[in-house]
Amino acid sequence: MSVIHQQVKLSLLKDKQVSLVVKREDLIHPFISGNKFRKLKYNLLEAQKQGYHTLVTFGGAYSNHIAATAYAGKETGLRTVGIIRGEELKGGYKSNPTLAQARKNGMEFIFISRDQFRDKTSPIFLQSLQDSIGEFYLVPEGGTNDLAIKGCEEILGESDINYDYLCCSVGTGGTVAGIINASGATQKVIGFASLKGDFLTKDIRNFVTKDNWEIRTDYHFGGYAKISGELISFINWFKRETGIPTDPIYTGKLFYGVLDLIKQGYFKPGTSILVVHTGGLQGVEGMNIILKKRQQPLIEV
Ligand SMILES: Cc1ncc(COP(=O)(O)O)c(C=O)c1O
Repeated sequence: MSVIHQQVKLSLLKDKQVSLVVKREDLIHPFISGNKFRKLKYNLLEAQKQGYHTLVTFGGAYSNHIAATAYAGKETGLRTVGIIRGEELKGGYKSNPTLAQARKNGMEFIFISRDQFRDKTSPIFLQSLQDSIGEFYLVPEGGTNDLAIKGCEEILGESDINYDYLCCSVGTGGTVAGIINASGATQKVIGFASLKGDFLTKDIRNFVTKDNWEIRTDYHFGGYAKISGELISFINWFKRETGIPTDPIYTGKLFYGVLDLIKQGYFKPGTSILVVHTGGLQGVEGMNIILKKRQQPLIEV
């Protein structure tokens, strides 16, 4: 698969003599874009190999992973069941663009409370699921497991070995783990966490053997799916300047962080940086509904 490499032109980059290229994995597919395609690829093959007809996975109201799994199920003929965080969404999911589209793509939903959601991988809960929907192949929340990481290792192509730094957004850590595993010995990988907390480094260590990486935990803007006015203005500015759309949960924070590090002089002159754009743009419509209700500026699409 050939993925576009887009050279970014900004006066900041010229001033600091740093080259910034974006790997546009977001353009792979409107629903199974970026890391979602990579993470699902080997899991779908495994589910089919093991003879499963149903995929079960978990997610919240704006989950890119739910959107991608629903579409992948439709494409491969597998039944999909989404365990959704928040019982309150049951009556109103049709007005949530992510869930409405997933439903259109054939996903069945089971809405559970936030407390139950925390306990979603307990043997008791999984058994009760099996009793009600039959045998299933379980794809974890965010899609991260060994097969997903194997898929994410394929994000880097041969020419990507020439960049000094590789940057990507981090949720559960599967994507950055794949990139670390596929990186060259002299390359450095920086993951930008979209969630609050320091647990990620420990999780990622379970999946990688190299130590040429770091996770930045200072660009989460308050945590997962928190809406910051500063971030929204950055997303709109970045799109106007470069033509590259980003989302407020993952990739907006990533690009904000990368440009901030460049501003601070973190990268020495002559450095080349490859930023992997992992998609997530399907969530923007839902975010804009919230912003509109709050009478805040919208994300320009
Ligand atoms: C668009 C996008 N980028 C990045 C990530 C982070 O990926 P990971 O959970 O593998 O760290 C996600 C979430 O899974 C995502 O949806």
